[in-house]
Amino acid sequence: MKKVIKIGFIGYGTVATGAVKILTSQQNLLERRIGAQLQIVKIADREIERDRGIDLPEGLLTTDVAEVLNHPEIDIVVELIGGTDHAKTFTLEAIAQRKHVVTANKALIAYAGEDIFKAAEKQGVEVGFEAAVCGGIPIVREMKEGLASERILSIYGIVNGTCNYILSKMRDEGGDFSSVLKEAQHLGFAEADPTLDIGGGDSAHKLAILSSLAFGTPVPLKEIYTEGIEKVKPIDIAFANEFGYDIKLLAITKMVDGEIEARVHPTMISKATLLSKVSGVFNAVAVDGETVGELLFYGQGAGSLPTGSAVVSDFVDIARNIINQSSGRVPAAAFMPDARKPLRIRPMAEISSLYYLRFMVQDHPGVLAQISGILGKNQISISAMIQQGRKIDGSVPLVMMTHLARESDLQTALGEIDQLDCILGATLLIRVEGEDLS
Ligand code: HSE
Repeated sequence: MKKVIKIGFIGYGTVATGAVKILTSQQNLLERRIGAQLQIVKIADREIERDRGIDLPEGLLTTDVAEVLNHPEIDIVVELIGGTDHAKTFTLEAIAQRKHVVTANKALIAYAGEDIFKAAEKQGVEVGFEAAVCGGIPIVREMKEGLASERILSIYGIVNGTCNYILSKMRDEGGDFSSVLKEAQHLGFAEADPTLDIGGGDSAHKLAILSSLAFGTPVPLKEIYTEGIEKVKPIDIAFANEFGYDIKLLAITKMVDGEIEARVHPTMISKATLLSKVSGVFNAVAVDGETVGELLFYGQGAGSLPTGSAVVSDFVDIARNIINQSSGRVPAAAFMPDARKPLRIRPMAEISSLYYLRFMVQDHPGVLAQISGILGKNQISISAMIQQGRKIDGSVPLVMMTHLARESDLQTALGEIDQLDCILGATLLIRVEGEDLS
């Protein structure tokens, strides 16, 4: 008789609904791929009356999480409730009961992945989190398996669809940040509370996971410099365009001289790059490997079915390992636990970058000399400049692009420049990624 792998869900929201639809509609295909049947035996959620458009057998739904956690036959528990507190408790409880776990929860893995992986290793069970990074793009599995032979040099990711949608709309149709955000919320592309998305927090969660998998080191969230897209104005998108750039919220991680850079911020990238072509809600991750060269993974980073598909792919992996008694074959964090090394995460002040600077200034003689004098004194060399007479609230934008400069020098210079009487509004700095990206 065919083996049956039994699954219990905690949470029956958007992603769970997608996963359940795939499990029911693709039963035959999955069985052919695994050599066993995947069977849902319990689904726990606070709201079990709501119609999700799926017919489930009687008795599958419960409001009691313990019915999943303590179910003697469940092999895999999937946590899809989001948040970190209950999610961590339930995940560790499932592991303690020697159940394999799957989650789509990026915050959980970014904050508590280390604890969860240790607990799972001790119990001899697996942790699947393919859906936690970029929804339907199978980037976690590629980092662990497809790229197992590679020394990773850098990753540049557009990993938040909401931000990419807003920036693409601002570029293509005009409109300022808040009106485009409102429209995105109205269309259901942005959350009612979009703070995590637009503030860069969601991207930082995903970057913490990717960076850790790439470099075999813990990457604590608090060490990831995180800046959102709120300050980007239509005028910056227009200036970027004049310089041949697009603005994207990028999650960037690189290995530089044995240290890790890990940062999330609006970034100007050349219009000639493939990443700049990634528009709307789509996600993309560009990985540079020492021997394989550059790769680009592109697809839907959110949504019920794409993210549900990633969840089900973890079920398939775990089911295959259960059948072949090879659980733990691929380490959860991509490196053997005792071979992971804590590497220094380089503080932002120590990075070097090219910069776009927009000063809002009085249109007077001598202003440019004052600003460029302070930049020069701080070792910052200007590579291009635009000053146009577009008056905004009585001031004019003065835009400069710099050569490679150290962030700490730049911040010192900006601190000094912002004290000048000729500065009439907030200065905007956008980092520019140059020759590393093609
Ligand atoms: N809210 C995210 C996005 C998807 O806008 O891409 C889930 O991480």
